[in-house]
Amino acid sequence: AAWVEETREGIDSGRFPVRAFNDQAVYDLEQERLFSKTWCFLAHESEIPHPGDYVTRYIGNNNLIVARDEHGKIHANLNMCRHRGNVMCKAEMGNASHFRCSYHGWTYKNSGELVGVPYMKEGYEGRLKRKDWGLVRVRVDSYEGLVFGCLDPEAPPLDEYLGGFQFYLDLYLKHGLGGVEVHGPPDHWIADTDWKICTENFAGDGYHTPVAHQWGFHLGYFPSSGSTHSQGWAVSIPGKGHGIGLGHGPNFPPFGGFPDDLVAEMKQSLSPEQVEVFSRTRTAVGSVFPNLSFLMQPFSLEPGEIGVRFVTMRLYHPVGPGRMEMYSWCLVPKNASQEYKKEAYRAYTLAFGQAGTFEQDDFENWTKVTQAAGMTMVRDVDFPYIMGMDSAPDPEFPGPGHAVVPYVNDTNFRNLWSRWADYLAGEV
Ligand code: FES
Ligand code: FE
Repeated sequence: AAWVEETREGIDSGRFPVRAFNDQAVYDLEQERLFSKTWCFLAHESEIPHPGDYVTRYIGNNNLIVARDEHGKIHANLNMCRHRGNVMCKAEMGNASHFRCSYHGWTYKNSGELVGVPYMKEGYEGRLKRKDWGLVRVRVDSYEGLVFGCLDPEAPPLDEYLGGFQFYLDLYLKHGLGGVEVHGPPDHWIADTDWKICTENFAGDGYHTPVAHQWGFHLGYFPSSGSTHSQGWAVSIPGKGHGIGLGHGPNFPPFGGFPDDLVAEMKQSLSPEQVEVFSRTRTAVGSVFPNLSFLMQPFSLEPGEIGVRFVTMRLYHPVGPGRMEMYSWCLVPKNASQEYKKEAYRAYTLAFGQAGTFEQDDFENWTKVTQAAGMTMVRDVDFPYIMGMDSAPDPEFPGPGHAVVPYVNDTNFRNLWSRWADYLAGEV
């Protein structure tokens, strides 16, 4: 508790402890106080479009079945049989109207209700009420196709939790009147990296881009060029932890990389303020607190061309101190042509996902950071978060939140860590 209090004071003066990124006690506290209270991303609706479709996902260390019932409603239930605790669903995706336990045969609807109990009459003699023994339910809510779950029945609703960040989420999600859909299942893999390093990086680390990813700029695959990351804005939602970096730069047409018909549709589905922000944005990299991120990036399949804009969505599921399971999706506009979707997916796989080159640039660094954070000598060492300590918000910026210039800035990160510390202190 004293450590959390010291950490909070440190954040206010632009310092954050190294050990937070690889420490058993911090990990345990996150499980107990953070992942049990925040809204956590579960799935995109397009991953489970039909009745009976399901995926298995996690909130903290809790494995959940996220399923669409026969009426089209999405439910999340703990993936544990209420009889003796067996895992109900062993596949990570599929379609089923019911789940039958492989131990004693209790059977549940995909909505979680218990409907079948072997030897009900002979064994339980009327003492077991099926309605009392359904799967353990998790609160579910959604925004623009993003399905979130929350373990805390008292937590405020998702809208309030997002707290205005929806404005920026729309830049990734309202691509044409049909919105976006996932292109294939997510890549997922285990990495010796702390989840927070990724959340921070995607909350607007424009600082690393021209260094860690310099090859891509040199070869001409990224028409945003390395230097645009120092321009544009870093925007955070104070008190909520969410943040986005909006890379900006000259000589790039507004909406460049999206087909014209989709741009026309986007102008209808976005507000004038959103259109203004979007038209000035080349790259957008943002994190929803605690562990969901998005990146929109122009990519030239032929060096020198404008090319396509791909969107990746990523989830950092913590599986131990300094260890996580990474989920990476490609999002494409639903109304785009098959050809555009294929190109966007190709660009995405070249840059992100398990074999993506950007991904490997990042994880090479993140894994080393995590190793370092586990060393005994760093117990009392801090990192500096003092960029933009005194930056005033840009009064001209048309979007909500606290927007500062330039994009290379620590303001979003101080906001992120202070939200994180509020949870660890038990104050949320
Ligand atoms: Fe599932 Fe017994 S553990 S029926
Ligand atoms: Fe990166």
